[in-house]
Amino acid sequence: MKLFKNFITFEGIDFSGKSTQTKIIAEKLQALGLNVKLLREPGGAVISEKIREIILDNAHQELHPRTEILLYSAARAQIVHEKILPLLEAGDYLMLDRFYDSTTVYQGYGRKLDIHFVEALNKFATSGLAPYKTFFIDISPEEALRRRKAADRHSDRLDNENAEFYQTVWKAYQNLLHQFPNRYIVIPGDETIENISTFILHKIIEIWKLPL
Ligand code: TMP
Repeated sequence: MKLFKNFITFEGIDFSGKSTQTKIIAEKLQALGLNVKLLREPGGAVISEKIREIILDNAHQELHPRTEILLYSAARAQIVHEKILPLLEAGDYLMLDRFYDSTTVYQGYGRKLDIHFVEALNKFATSGLAPYKTFFIDISPEEALRRRKAADRHSDRLDNENAEFYQTVWKAYQNLLHQFPNRYIVIPGDETIENISTFILHKIIEIWKLPL
């Protein structure tokens, strides 16, 4: 397993506010003078962003679960080797919005693919790179659906999933939290945007021992 202290990931079910939070926090850290990068999955590199378009395209309803996991993994293999490993090896700080835990819960549990195969594929795509810490912004599946309705966002393929899928994914994340209690930091997602970002920011400063 490859572990870099300067590598932190963010996970959560859809509509957890994860992308809003990672942007706010990265900007705050950069304003404090820290050389921190923010990348997202699927995406974050030219080839991986193209794969993201295929995966999320609403017209691709026929996308098979096996094709889907291979596409997520292909996007990941590219961003890891092209961007993430060189950045970490150069000593940069990196915040990543989703990583292989998303594949474990969405494809492994959500699509009911063999979990041992999924874990092996995750290792293959990442060459064994693992996050040092992972923030999980926790909202209930019911809250996710409520936010989806309020946002009236039905723009991508994954937004069409039903309540049961979100429930399964949320439960799978709870399993991961128990499996990796030292890596995972859980934040209640129903707090205000400001409270959540302040909490995470302080934790990151502590984890990275930043002299700020
Ligand atoms: P995002 O909304 O965080 O940008 O993620 C896009 C969607 O892709 C989201 O519904 C979660 C899903 N996803 C997977 O199903 N498997 C994965 O490995 C990743 C990275 C994302």
